[in-house]
Amino acid sequence: MSLNIKKAKQLISLVPRVELCFLPTPMHKLERLSKALGINLYIKRDDFTGKNLFGGNKTRKLEFLIGKAIEDKCEYVFTYGATQSNHAMQTAWTAAASNLKSVLYLAAVVDPDENDIKSNLLLDKIFDAELHIVDLKENESFGDATKRAIKLGSEHIRRLEATGKKCMNIPVGGANEIGTVGYISGFVEIEEQAEKMNIDFDYLYHASGSGGTMAGLVAGKKLISSNINVQSVITLSESDNYISSNVKNANSALEYIGAEPIVIESDFDLNRNFLGPGYECPSEASSAAIKLLAKQEGILLDPVYTGKAFAGLLNDIHTGKIKSGSNVIFLHTGGATALFAEKDILGDLF
Ligand SMILES: Cc1ncc(COP(=O)(O)O)c(C=O)c1O
Repeated sequence: MSLNIKKAKQLISLVPRVELCFLPTPMHKLERLSKALGINLYIKRDDFTGKNLFGGNKTRKLEFLIGKAIEDKCEYVFTYGATQSNHAMQTAWTAAASNLKSVLYLAAVVDPDENDIKSNLLLDKIFDAELHIVDLKENESFGDATKRAIKLGSEHIRRLEATGKKCMNIPVGGANEIGTVGYISGFVEIEEQAEKMNIDFDYLYHASGSGGTMAGLVAGKKLISSNINVQSVITLSESDNYISSNVKNANSALEYIGAEPIVIESDFDLNRNFLGPGYECPSEASSAAIKLLAKQEGILLDPVYTGKAFAGLLNDIHTGKIKSGSNVIFLHTGGATALFAEKDILGDLF
């Protein structure tokens, strides 16, 4: 079953949603870089999803997650991530704006300095989130610490629910069938803008972490039978079942809006060469990509996600994978608050 844009939007309009974003976000050409690189390079500004300066991809997902939490009469939303998680910060502000309490269990990949709280962690506090920092044990990975954080959060939810309080448990990155609808909708929005611009895009590049954005984009692409080739640059060590769980997620999201589950493993196209030394560890390629976009176009990327994804895109142009004259979109998923985070995250930018 392939739908036109109007039908796809109708299906999406039937599930619970709360308006949190300024949509559509802008999509514009990067004139100087396009000339320099020999392609037509556009940028989709999901760093401007709203409603404060620090937008990002998670706000699209949270329109559906918070919408469902309100419909289910929840009082609390719980979520997980690193201490500088963009997803956690966006959960904190969207919950505050929706009269819900946010509870964040955050794994300290980079130890926060209690006397100098920075960046997203500072914003979490301003948005009045209840914070629980989960310190990494010796030799413990981020993934294992996050599993512990999820267990602690789930126990906390059980305690609250025993007293009659309703809670929504939002997974890392908002990557479940509800949040993923945010990028089914995001993809349909991109295709609608492309039609208005009268451009057939060849590629869409983006950073992938939990995989929810990728799952939504690919589900959206399949739903409306788009020819845009979605390229997902990995920025977080993948779990063993990364692909299969994202196939499941993409299909559950399609079923959630009443469409057929049509995503298969080979629909995902992952680039694993730009993670660098690891999650929240800056890489030379990412720093160079951030500096290039800043100097050529005055646009800021971040060292954890978008810098690495943009480095992957630049590499594919330089190696000829992307042919000259191609029409390419870079999805800016936000994250620039990391520029004000701990030096260990920031890397060498000047
Ligand atoms: C700025 C930014 N870009 C990309 C991603 C990856 O998105 P996803 O977790 O949906 O794969 C994240 C996730 O936190 C992010 O904060």
